[in-house]
Amino acid sequence: MKKIILTGDRPTGRLHIGHYVGSLKNRVEIQNKGQYDEMYIMIADAQALTDNADNPEKIRENIMEVALDYLSVGLDPSRVTIFIQSHVSALTELTFYYSNLVTVSRLQRNPTVKNEIKLRNFEANIPVGFFTYPISQAADITAFKANIVPVGEDQLPMIEQAREIVHAFNRVYKKDVLVKPEAVLPETEAALRLPGTDGNAKMSKSLGNCIYLADSKEEVERKIMGMYTDPDHIHVSDPGKVENNTVFTYLDAFSTEKDFQKFLPEYKNLDELKNHYRRGGVGDVKIKKFLLNIMEEILTPIRERRKYYEARIDEVYSILEEGSKHASEVANKTLQEVKEAMKINYFEDQELLETYRQKYAGNKEEN
Ligand code: TRP
Repeated sequence: MKKIILTGDRPTGRLHIGHYVGSLKNRVEIQNKGQYDEMYIMIADAQALTDNADNPEKIRENIMEVALDYLSVGLDPSRVTIFIQSHVSALTELTFYYSNLVTVSRLQRNPTVKNEIKLRNFEANIPVGFFTYPISQAADITAFKANIVPVGEDQLPMIEQAREIVHAFNRVYKKDVLVKPEAVLPETEAALRLPGTDGNAKMSKSLGNCIYLADSKEEVERKIMGMYTDPDHIHVSDPGKVENNTVFTYLDAFSTEKDFQKFLPEYKNLDELKNHYRRGGVGDVKIKKFLLNIMEEILTPIRERRKYYEARIDEVYSILEEGSKHASEVANKTLQEVKEAMKINYFEDQELLETYRQKYAGNKEEN
């Protein structure tokens, strides 16, 4: 079976290291290993508008930021299609037809939507578009017949709902037109949900606890040096906790044995460092400096590529335009197949025309 990969992000802000370790890194690795047939990366502006209808500028401004983030982590437009959701109109059409296969109560049970509704304090004022975005996300995935969707853990209910829609469609219209997607999660536990630098469970712009891919070295240093550790670990000699110690959570997500060889050769690996920290005798400054070295190793090439593309904004624009054109062609093809399975492709259906002709064959005009 072909390996078709699709994933995307809402352009509500710049991407941060949580996005990187949770999904972007995975995408670049898949791309570089060439283990796929087609890969699509979508800037989900239409989905971002479902809870930002009154603030389209915010979405518009962040399309370029997200595109630059994609290119700077090493996604290569000659190997992957980067496109803008709102410019692939087949997605909205597919969403409309899929809506008929989904019940209101099923949407109400979607844990991600439930949680987001709570977070946004929508209460009785949930926009319909927001409430139904899992259906539109199923359209994003199925339009490309994607079978692999690299995402964060919070997106699992979306993939599950997409699978149900695929199942329902193929059953109701008696044709295997759509393909069931699988989610691909990052391998390490810590990478699934990277906390903010303040230890808060979520990195969010409003909490000011994110390290962005576009941050300067000075910003990254300031943020890492200000990170939360174990509040009872005051003197270097104090025993320390590594659980819920944000610096160690980050080291879980980012450090490799190579980093130890390079930056902290007195330890073989993270377990050794953790054990020493637990016993006492390791200062917080030391672990923070180690983390900073690791982050800089990752972020330096990202910053360099960003600079390259920032100097070529017109080129980035064409990448998005070309990508959106290509994505439209692919999605239109699926839309055609969907309409055909539903038998609403009236003008391509010779059989239907023939049926009408015969039905009214006796009614000749009198003249
Ligand atoms: N819901 C995703 C997010 O919030 C963005 C998204 C939209 C997406 N459509 C998708 C992700 C399709 C994967 C596949 O980040």
